Amino acid sequence: MNTIQATDQYTMRAFGRIPLVEAQGKSCTCTDENGKTYIDMGSGIGCNVLGWCNDAWVDAVCGQVKKLQHACNYYYTQPQAEFAERLCKITGFSRMFLGNSGAEANECAIKVARKYSSDKYGKNRGTIITLKNSFHGRTIETLAATGQDVFHRYFYPFPTGFVFAEANNLDDLKSKLDGTVCAIMIEVIQGEGGVCALDKDYVQAIANICEEQDILLLIDEVQTGVGRTGTFLAQEQFGVKANVTTLAKAIGGGLPIGVTLVDEKCADVITPGTHGSTFGGNPVVCAGACAVLNQITAPGFLDSVKEKAAYLRGELQKIPEVDSLSGIGMMIGITLKTKDAHDVMLAANDAGLLILTAKEKVRLLPPLTITKEETDAGLAILRSVLGA
Ligand SMILES: Cc1ncc(COP(=O)(O)O)c(C=O)c1O
Repeated sequence: MNTIQATDQYTMRAFGRIPLVEAQGKSCTCTDENGKTYIDMGSGIGCNVLGWCNDAWVDAVCGQVKKLQHACNYYYTQPQAEFAERLCKITGFSRMFLGNSGAEANECAIKVARKYSSDKYGKNRGTIITLKNSFHGRTIETLAATGQDVFHRYFYPFPTGFVFAEANNLDDLKSKLDGTVCAIMIEVIQGEGGVCALDKDYVQAIANICEEQDILLLIDEVQTGVGRTGTFLAQEQFGVKANVTTLAKAIGGGLPIGVTLVDEKCADVITPGTHGSTFGGNPVVCAGACAVLNQITAPGFLDSVKEKAAYLRGELQKIPEVDSLSGIGMMIGITLKTKDAHDVMLAANDAGLLILTAKEKVRLLPPLTITKEETDAGLAILRSVLGA
């Protein structure tokens, strides 16, 4: 059997896959098994933040894998310690829990919120408000937290304890504050929901409500974090700081990781035996994540992301088929005038460009290391596909 046949035969049909076998990658160019090359403007849905096989990241990962590939969390490892200390100092959070995916990071955030509240207020204050059109993961709990009916099918019974508020509608959110709420969980830019940024005033009003009522603000930065929007965390641009922030995707540079960051208020909520993970904080993953931190926080890097985003957005706006752009920085949603986003994605793939969709939009999440030449090459393909 070839790669596609064996995968389709022996793995569950969870994904609507495209018949393209990625074989090798370097920087922002990927080569398939037939030797055809593609410019990457999807970065594996935001994970390959430094592009494919970034030299420093590869050295860090390979160096660590030769020393110690795994340690159980009863013991300490230097890469986990280094990563945790550096990420806390960069973000201003107090502690973190390390898991393996965005959904797991959000599971931990939910546990922190519920335990914070039950430690302080007792049993009946466990409701979490999330937003309609949100996406928080594929575990049963994070599906229940996701504010889209389409995800609330088949897997009954779903856990309870989530209510959904209309995004950017403060009155609707306030009407859900019935005294049982322990947390409000948001993405400042809804990624899977169609690259929709929340209003800054709305986010600030939520932060104020949380502060006044001792409700925890959970910000899911699984897709927006680690420089994607031009600041290390997207919440910085909204003028708020969450009590709990989750990261995944980009922070691993392409290896599985989930991070739940907590502030001082929540620093001691998780106690021995109340949470855990076998692989969380794996030394190889943490060594790679340190290499990601090195590059994202290098002087000038985030400014270069803003410049790249401004250039890319400016060029996209000139394409006649482009109706409007959404998102912030290098998290870009493109509303098209006449064409179907999914058809455009497939046509772009055929023409040698990897792009994504989110709801009815074309979505771009280019590696943050993309060069001007690679951007121009990608834009040329997109223009041709969009008939410009
Ligand atoms: C905002 C957000 N939260 C959570 C997740 C789930 O992350 P993972 O697939 O790593 O579990 C995603 C994935 O797309 C996401 O975009």
